[in-house]
Amino acid sequence: MSIIRPDDPGAARSQPPISYPAYQSNVLRSPRRPLIRIPANMKDLAAPVYGELRIGGTDSDLTRQHAGEPLGERIIVSGRVLDEDGRPLANTLVEIWQANAAGRYFHANDDHPAPLDPNFTGAGRAVTDADGRYRFLTIKPGAYPWRNHPNAWRPAHIHFSLFGHSLESRLITQMYFPNDPLFAHDPILQSIPDADAQQRLVSAFDLSLTEAEWALGYRWDIVLRGRHSTPFEERA
Ligand SMILES: [Fe+2]
Repeated sequence: MSIIRPDDPGAARSQPPISYPAYQSNVLRSPRRPLIRIPANMKDLAAPVYGELRIGGTDSDLTRQHAGEPLGERIIVSGRVLDEDGRPLANTLVEIWQANAAGRYFHANDDHPAPLDPNFTGAGRAVTDADGRYRFLTIKPGAYPWRNHPNAWRPAHIHFSLFGHSLESRLITQMYFPNDPLFAHDPILQSIPDADAQQRLVSAFDLSLTEAEWALGYRWDIVLRGRHSTPFEERA
């Protein structure tokens, strides 16, 4: 996986600024001093750092990680990880995290008065195949309030993290669902300067991914760089 090239103005417009005041907590989080380069020897790891456990089993099926089934609308989210020339990137670690169907995260800091689901953690991971493809079975997340401004609600979204072949290659972004009425009111999505780039974060309903009697399918491809790059929150 490669970084986005800063010399490509088209690519630059597809990315949000590091600091965006309308997204209030981002102002405190964003760096104000020059970035510190990661030591060169950390770039040169020969393989992704996946932790001690192998990926498999229920890692990519978030509906089977507990004794019972989670509540909500079952969905399939699948797509390909591609470079700027449309070439697939195999063996990329794709991690996701999300709120449950009621818009509540399984996290100590989430005090939104919506129910937790004892059968849903909201975290998954997969590795892309030779065609660059990933696939998750999960529950459609709910919108949630976030106190950024009066009556602030996040559009339903799934957080994505991608790892290539070194620690320095991590990319983080969010995937949205089609036609969400909250798009225009979301400073995080609106922080992306280019309207077409905003739309590249929106998945597409796909009947061919949909499984009869089971789950709706949403397709979302991730392009790592270039003029048609997916917008990312953090760039290595
Ligand atoms: Fe979120």
